Amino acid sequence: MTAAIQYRLIKQEKHTGARLGEIITPHGTFPTPMFMPVGTLASVKSMAPEELKEMGANIILSNTYHLWLRPGEEIVKKAGGLHQFMNWDRGVLTDSGGFQVFSLAENRNITEKGVTFKNHLNGAKMFLSPEKALQIENDLGADIIMSLDECPPFFESYEYVRDSVARTSRWAERGLKAHRDPEKQGLFGIVQGAGFQDLRTQSAKDLVSLDFPGYAIGGLSVGESKSEMNRVLDFTTPLLPEQKPRYLMGVGSADALIDGVIRGIDMFDCVLPTRIGRNGTAMTSQGRVVVKNAKYAEDFTPLDPNCDCYTCRNYTRAYIRHLIKSDEIFGLHLTSYHNLYFLLHLMQQVRQAIMDDNLLEFRQDFFEAYGFNKE
Ligand code: GUN
Ligand code: ZN
Repeated sequence: MTAAIQYRLIKQEKHTGARLGEIITPHGTFPTPMFMPVGTLASVKSMAPEELKEMGANIILSNTYHLWLRPGEEIVKKAGGLHQFMNWDRGVLTDSGGFQVFSLAENRNITEKGVTFKNHLNGAKMFLSPEKALQIENDLGADIIMSLDECPPFFESYEYVRDSVARTSRWAERGLKAHRDPEKQGLFGIVQGAGFQDLRTQSAKDLVSLDFPGYAIGGLSVGESKSEMNRVLDFTTPLLPEQKPRYLMGVGSADALIDGVIRGIDMFDCVLPTRIGRNGTAMTSQGRVVVKNAKYAEDFTPLDPNCDCYTCRNYTRAYIRHLIKSDEIFGLHLTSYHNLYFLLHLMQQVRQAIMDDNLLEFRQDFFEAYGFNKE
């Protein structure tokens, strides 16, 4: 059997845990560390696939939960799968729905079998199990699919997290059994365990013994501090196999990306660049620029003077501010474009710094210009 997803480790950085590699998918081979833009409903909000390609996006993320509710996985399957449905011929990853059920749905009840909840669209009662999540993900047809997990609050009790982690491991095993075609789609396991080192260790052990083609670290960036997250990464990534990709879920601030890479993370996703872009905030080499602010009304410079993206080559802060203040949708498109480009370009620089063995110097310079802790 040839596994759908493979990882090739090219180089370890000399002074940190960072690694340069490649993820090999049925829709192409892509360099890591990488950032994956989020297209929850089979669309990266306001962005055309051609634009995503032109800025170097290689894998985008969609959500099982959302697509299950609307339009329904059978329609996507009839279209020929997510790639065909949305006209995207590079990589796609679908999250399993667990996290979204916990963050969006109401009346949740979690049992060994799965989770019942009322959906956030019409309040209908629904049931998601590890097997159901796999059936939906198999029908959606992404290159990388995720096990159904529970993401407990970071500061939940030890007893709760212990039982939750054990259940997430059993769910991962059930998902693996239900998975129909491991040569076409790679199923990743998700390490949980909140801030508890022994529970993260147990979770990683359980999942590694099941031999997934890749591993995610979940349950982070859920309200804990940056140093707390880095502490968890410090003891969690070394538990994961060197020859498999490591994916830190839901993390997309520039400083956290760099600090995650330093700790051995290969893949990231986050709605942050598109979400803050839509309300008029730009991520720049000098920190965040809230372009809606009055002080930019007559600022005829680009969002980021050091950026050569389409937005920055052609439009000014004053113009974008005007568009966003006037609810002109082109404005949110321009800021989203820039923010995605910014993170993709950042990862390109990070890969170069790994190549040159100077990632710590790069971090120092970046943090200085960015203004540490502005995000
Ligand atoms: N997205 C961000 N964090 C998580 C997590 O812990 N689990 C899942 N499934 N998705 C996530
Ligand atoms: Zn730009």
